[in-house]
Amino acid sequence: MAKVTVVGAGNVGSNTARRIAERGIADTVVMIDIVEGLPQGLALDINQSSPTEGFDTFVVGTNDYADTADSDVVVITAGKPRTPGMSRMDLLADNAKIVGGVTEQVAKYSPEAILIVVSNPLDEMTYLAAVKSGFSKEKVMGMAGVLDSSRLRFFIAEKLGVSPLKVDAMTLGSHGDQMVALPRHATVDGKPLPDLLSASDLEELFDRTKNAGAEIVGYLKKGSAFYAPSSSSASMVESILKDSGDIHPTCAWTTGEYGVSDVYLGVPAKLSRKGVQEIVELSLNDDETAKLVEAAEAIRAKCQELDSVL
Ligand code: LAC
Repeated sequence: MAKVTVVGAGNVGSNTARRIAERGIADTVVMIDIVEGLPQGLALDINQSSPTEGFDTFVVGTNDYADTADSDVVVITAGKPRTPGMSRMDLLADNAKIVGGVTEQVAKYSPEAILIVVSNPLDEMTYLAAVKSGFSKEKVMGMAGVLDSSRLRFFIAEKLGVSPLKVDAMTLGSHGDQMVALPRHATVDGKPLPDLLSASDLEELFDRTKNAGAEIVGYLKKGSAFYAPSSSSASMVESILKDSGDIHPTCAWTTGEYGVSDVYLGVPAKLSRKGVQEIVELSLNDDETAKLVEAAEAIRAKCQELDSVL
């Protein structure tokens, strides 16, 4: 009997709840928000799609954390989204208060849960949730690498005019300026990506991926992306609940992998009922490792800023 809570009934939260229900991977999905009526109304709407979509997960909308008790996985999407011109880091102070408060409630009612943080700035909010929950670090992770990698895979497919299903690619590092793309590890239909695209084309695709969230914010004006972010979150929840050990680029606590320790960083990780079961070490060249270390140090510096206000 798996129970998942999604905190925040905005576009990312409600679509995450919907996708988890549609995947049929949990018996119950609880969607909680501070706005009265919002999670209740959206939950009812999702439930009314169950006969046509063919799922029997029950979605509960609530404003009361008691209803989230004993969740197996909690996805935290609460917080403000960006508006045009803002960087994810501009949300740090406001979202630290929101995510900090939410995490304390979640930890109180679901002390055994695995936490997936989606709120921005992602890497720093993941660290904050780990501190505020007091959970062991492998049980707290952030969703970003799956999203950034999915975006990159789509852009590569679009550029080459092939199905996105044929493209494998991964981004590591931070969910922001220090995102690290790994062209040497990317393939299209099994062929290495650098054989198919010029260095300048690759650079253009990586830049677009880095700015993909902002590109969508620019179009939407109010609010940020939610279809791809909710899809990425649901895929991580699925691997955890199914205890699959599937590898996802995940914001995970490092303990010496890639020469980095004691900081949350986007790395490939096996996800299971334990949370982050293992960080997978790809063979990176010096340049790739240097970029990953640079991302880690930028995140560490921001987390130290957070520490000083906690
Ligand atoms: C984005 C937000 C979710 O990248 O960070 O769209």
